[in-house]
Amino acid sequence: MKDSIRILLTTLLLSIAIPTTVFAGCGHLAEPMTPDAIAKRLTPIGKVDAEGGSQAPVALVSEALGPNAGEDRYKATCAVCHETGVGGAPKFRNAADWKTRMDVGIDGMLAIAIKGKGAMPPKGTCMQCSDQELKMTIEYMIPK
Ligand code: HEC
Repeated sequence: MKDSIRILLTTLLLSIAIPTTVFAGCGHLAEPMTPDAIAKRLTPIGKVDAEGGSQAPVALVSEALGPNAGEDRYKATCAVCHETGVGGAPKFRNAADWKTRMDVGIDGMLAIAIKGKGAMPPKGTCMQCSDQELKMTIEYMIPK
């Protein structure tokens, strides 16, 4: 009877002791908290953000702008008002409409376009547009 109790106790002790030593010895089971390891774990989250919708921060949507970015953006977003002059919008490449506005220069017009003015909504409604994209768009819409 005593022997069977000792065997039972030994078995119990071993069943606790063996897994404990085995896991403690396995360093790779615990993720190291090095900057590299942390960065690795964060990478997939960054990737998801970059593919996300309009809520993604601009810095993460930093796709390279092609030479036609201004034209593409104008047609997609700005033409709806600037093609016919909705609400007094200066019309596409219309010298008379743009004459006085161009006095402030491209950067001055960019600053106004970002802030919005009268019936012109901030960023012309293109909230995800970078300053560079808006600048290329304005360069495309003003008279040559
Ligand atoms: C909802 C209509 C609307 C849309 C969309 C719109 N605009 Fe405008 N925009 C206006 C109106 C109206 C004005 C004239 C504002 C004023 O002088 O009161 C204007 C003026 C401007 C000006 C001249 C600012 C100045 O120096 O006086 C620029 C530049 C401009 N828009 C750029 C853009 C760009 C770029 C886009 C697209 C990304 C865009 N707009 C989209 C209505 C619009």
